[in-house]
Amino acid sequence: MQTISDIHRLHQCLKQWRQDGDSIAFVPTMGNLHDGHLLLVKEAKQRADRVVVSIFVNPMQFGAGEDLDNYPRTLEQDQQSLVDLGADLLFTPTPQLLYPQGLENQTYVEVPGISMLYCGESRPGHFRGVATVVCKLFNLVQPDVAIFGNKDYQQLAIIRAMVRDLNMPVDVLGIDTVRNPDGLALSSRNGYLNASERLLAPKLKQTLDWIAEQLQQGADARALEQQAGGRLNDHGFSTDYVHICHADTLEKADAADRQLVVLAAAKLGNTRLIDNLRVDLT
Ligand code: PAJ
Repeated sequence: MQTISDIHRLHQCLKQWRQDGDSIAFVPTMGNLHDGHLLLVKEAKQRADRVVVSIFVNPMQFGAGEDLDNYPRTLEQDQQSLVDLGADLLFTPTPQLLYPQGLENQTYVEVPGISMLYCGESRPGHFRGVATVVCKLFNLVQPDVAIFGNKDYQQLAIIRAMVRDLNMPVDVLGIDTVRNPDGLALSSRNGYLNASERLLAPKLKQTLDWIAEQLQQGADARALEQQAGGRLNDHGFSTDYVHICHADTLEKADAADRQLVVLAAAKLGNTRLIDNLRVDLT
């Protein structure tokens, strides 16, 4: 596997592969790779001849006071995991390379509507940063297929909308969330949890499961959102939101909707956890 951090060498390598007729799958990440990321890479191996992974802790998607500086950076370990899985190229640009004009002077991509909801409301500018960097990375790598996790459900919906609206020639694929045995979704941010917070963290997924059961029994979505937030707070979380939404539009579900997703974000101490669960009403 080659690790490349300049655009000229990236283009040379990609050009050769295209001349050889190879298809390219792309997995964008911020590094500190865990089994969730690695499942995306495994899927990429199945989908194309060549696999490109990027590691870039994107300053544009972090708000003031968020964890940009502390975000875990474990390049050597990540490289080894990617070599073991047979990835072909790791792209590791610097902020200077992707934002030579600085963040203020950067042309950006904003997906309207959906970017303002939920995590977008709690983290203003976050999804603009995500859409912009993913657009830039797509332009640099020009993959046939790009693989994302359903773990970041709203992010994936925004990327799909961007690709659709801007006619980007890439297939976007979503992969199911990889979890710890106790249900906690794998996340680079789980490393911030102290021992007692880590014991409480699985309550987030348990609460999603409880909501799913209640929905199947016909419970009212709005009342459930309130109750679930209260339950999480009782367990020691500080709930940011619990929303029961239409699985595709992400608008708040009404009584007629059958394909649902429950989206939740809650803090344990200083660590913000997000999770979600698809619910198809039977
Ligand atoms: P990051 O948080 O590193 O996640 C990279 C990819 O891994 C995303 O598509 C995310 O949904 C997926 N992922 C994370 N945890 C997962 C899990 N437990 N199971 C399955 N997939 C999981 O998401 C980002 O980086 C950034 O916003 C990025 C898209 C790279 C743009 O900067």
